[in-house]
Amino acid sequence: MSSAEDNNPNILAEQGEGPEVDRRRRSLLGVMFGSLVGLGFMALGGVAGLWAAGTARFMMPNTITEPAKRFKVGFPGDYPDGYVETRFKQRYGVWIVRSEHAGRRQIVALSTTCTHLGCITLWQENEQKFKCPCHGSGFYRDGVNFEGPAPRPLPRYAIRIAADGQLEVDRSRVFQEELGQWEDPACYVEV
Ligand code: FES
Repeated sequence: MSSAEDNNPNILAEQGEGPEVDRRRRSLLGVMFGSLVGLGFMALGGVAGLWAAGTARFMMPNTITEPAKRFKVGFPGDYPDGYVETRFKQRYGVWIVRSEHAGRRQIVALSTTCTHLGCITLWQENEQKFKCPCHGSGFYRDGVNFEGPAPRPLPRYAIRIAADGQLEVDRSRVFQEELGQWEDPACYVEV
């Protein structure tokens, strides 16, 4: 037998029972479900955004990592006799050298890549030579090999005086001494 107190909604609510408690529970479950759905959509939106950003980056031309083939390296007067400029090694793989070769005083752009197996040479100021750290090849300042296993001199790149008076290197044109190409005036600037 139920008493009036048994059906009193306030007393039932205090006891964690009754229609009011059920309604609150349903309401709370609804809020939690809505929040989870909302979080799911946010996560999906984030993934879609990342995918779109990745696609856009893939479609864009890669203009930052590839160094220019042609670049300026200053004026001939910036290069005193015997000078080796190392500033362009890292970005362009080029030594700019003022030296004498075959009776000509000239400024040339030498490749920094060893002609043995392709390691990057180092300029050794004390010994006045390019040295390969891999197997010990050595090259004179004018790029000619003289020790170690390297079979030929460092290649030259095209170099000229541009309209503004600066030296301009063009890495798309290569000149190899062993092929007689160092005679080509396009690979040196006489000083
Ligand atoms: S790669 Fe330079 S000496 Fe072998």
